[in-house]
Amino acid sequence: MRNLLTIADLSSDDLQELLQLADRFAETQTRDVKKVPALRGKTVVLAFFEDSTRTRTSFDLAARRLSADVVNFSAGASSLSKGESLRDTIETISAMGVDAIVVRHRSSGAPQQVAQWTDAAVINAGDGWHQHPTQALLDSYTIRQRFGSLEGRRIALCGDINHSRVARSDVDAFTKLGAEVVLVAPPTLLPPSLEGWPVSVSHDLDQVVSDIDVAYFLRIQQERMTDALFPSVREYRAHFGLTVDRAKRLKPDALIMHPGPMNRGVELDPAVADDERAVVLDQVAAGIPIRMAVLFQTLGPGQFESEVA
Ligand code: ASP
Ligand code: CP
Repeated sequence: MRNLLTIADLSSDDLQELLQLADRFAETQTRDVKKVPALRGKTVVLAFFEDSTRTRTSFDLAARRLSADVVNFSAGASSLSKGESLRDTIETISAMGVDAIVVRHRSSGAPQQVAQWTDAAVINAGDGWHQHPTQALLDSYTIRQRFGSLEGRRIALCGDINHSRVARSDVDAFTKLGAEVVLVAPPTLLPPSLEGWPVSVSHDLDQVVSDIDVAYFLRIQQERMTDALFPSVREYRAHFGLTVDRAKRLKPDALIMHPGPMNRGVELDPAVADDERAVVLDQVAAGIPIRMAVLFQTLGPGQFESEVA
């Protein structure tokens, strides 16, 4: 795997292989010394042109635990403020001899562009409304960790689907791994066309809530909305939030998921976010072995056995 730009580039076998590799890296993270020498001598640049807490920190930790050198490029403190273009910025970073560039950008397609301007491996850490492939991998990992596999599981993705790169990546990954996906949202928060999406759609959370294995809630992405797409936050919560009452109707072993950052009291009631079925922090934890696996697959010089075990 040269780059990781979109889940569409991965077959279900590729996805399974990454999840299995992540299992092996997860084992290394239970050791006293969490660091393995696999990427010694490699340099990873984290080029985040949009804010992040989880993705940035876990890519940073994942790269360091593989013994790579890590450079954090901060868009806000860079010469972008002097008018330098994205292309010149990437070519400048590349000229310093780096091995991988992890890119987050508010524009859909930016990582694909970056890949044309550099010989370094490019990993998409979230581009606009388009894709967030490592999020989909860590979400799949979390579900598989609890249920053994995604095969035959019914997953509801609920909320602001249209603005969500997580939704687009998750739908592709979950269905490739054998799950059934239902989108639950008001029409105003769904993409104008769902042609080619292997999903069913419901506008009524109450109708699906008792019949799903995973209740996955997406953040209301106000920063990407130009119009008022629902009457009020109160009304949104009443229809599409996981309230305490609704959570009582979930199956006893259902998972409650959210990519973070969450609006507590909107997508999930505070008590629900702390419910024992909520695996939001397990998702965060899965980010480390998943991103180690992705960095190793794109940069690793060989087999896990010779480099890590
Ligand atoms: N953190 C995720 C993303 O960057 C989800 C979100 O922001 O709602 O796509
Ligand atoms: N889930 C996610 O991508 O979180 P951050 O935006 O904090 O990286």
